Amino acid sequence: MKRFVRWVAFVAIGLVALAAIGYGILVVASNRALDQRVAVTPPAPVLGHASVERGSHIYNAISSCVVCHGADGGGGPFINEPAMAVLNAPNLTRGAGGVGAAYADADYDRAIRRGIRADGTRLLIMPSWAYAAFSNDDAASVIAYLRSLAPVDRVTPRVRLGPVGRFLIATHQLPFDATRIEDETAPAPPTSITRADYGKYLTRVGVCMTCHGTHLSGGHLAGPPEAPPAANLTPTAFGNWTAADFMRTLTKGKDPTGHQLDAFMPWRTIRNMTDDELEAIFTYLQTVPKRPTGNG
Ligand code: HEC
Ligand code: HEC
Repeated sequence: MKRFVRWVAFVAIGLVALAAIGYGILVVASNRALDQRVAVTPPAPVLGHASVERGSHIYNAISSCVVCHGADGGGGPFINEPAMAVLNAPNLTRGAGGVGAAYADADYDRAIRRGIRADGTRLLIMPSWAYAAFSNDDAASVIAYLRSLAPVDRVTPRVRLGPVGRFLIATHQLPFDATRIEDETAPAPPTSITRADYGKYLTRVGVCMTCHGTHLSGGHLAGPPEAPPAANLTPTAFGNWTAADFMRTLTKGKDPTGHQLDAFMPWRTIRNMTDDELEAIFTYLQTVPKRPTGNG
């Protein structure tokens, strides 16, 4: 009996030691991913015609920055699940705790369009793949808007990862947008030649593709496990919607079947797009190839 107890104790100690070693490896691997630096070029001017008004429309309507960084741009808690991560959306203003005082336009631009901080580390969660398609004018406009914000004094500490978050990063299940952008051969050229082209541009910089997939066929591509899968926006599921149905769904948050859209779908921000913009998106959606639901 005594021997048996000793044996059990050995096994238990062995398992704890193994778990500790495993966790140690996880911490090292996830820290290495978080600390990995991408070579950053020296600040260069952001070329493009800047309009604060256009920047405000992008921040508050088209690109949903407001959802995470707040109406005042001061950021705050975004994910607060210690097992996963405690993550703040940073304070983007020039107030105390904000990046604005230290950031040159090029630093903002690198963060927004490439997903990389001034120190070369890569941003998590921030949907920079979507914003990588911003035209120079739109990038310059968002930056001009950020600079126009009143300073907010709010400290927004860097991410603190829990074991689940570390696991997801170490196993590349929580990818960095910076890497996705780097791996992409040809970023979509910003055009506004036809209505459908402009709609395509808006579906990317409007973050629709981050949640509904590059091919817009939906599925569970972003967000916490409890969020519903994003809908299929290709003509398969969408065939008999009229432009009016589409506009009503996105402005009232209720689709033609009477289904109330989950709050994870940011229709309260999207509804601030102009009718022209929403119609351009609808026009584009009718041109994308049909696809079965759920593979992005
Ligand atoms: C889904 C939420 C989300 C949206 C939408 C979003 N951001 Fe972010 N953003 C974040 C998070 C979270 C971080 C910090 C990531 C980290 O710490 O790894 C961040 C980081 C940044 C940074 C870098 C700050 C720094 O510390 O260097 C800038 C600049 C920024 N965002 C601007 C924007 C702008 C402009 C938009 C809209 C065009 C936008 N963000 C949309 C969540 C978001
Ligand atoms: C943060 C993730 C996210 C973003 C960004 C997002 N969506 Fe969604 N969307 C969803 C989810 C999740 C659903 C399903 C909601 C539900 O089932 O209640 C949805 C549902 C919809 C629906 C309703 C479809 C139906 O059959 O009821 C439409 C239309 C839609 N999205 C269009 C868009 C467009 C256009 C954009 C970009 C301008 C966009 N979405 C951006 C996550 C997102």
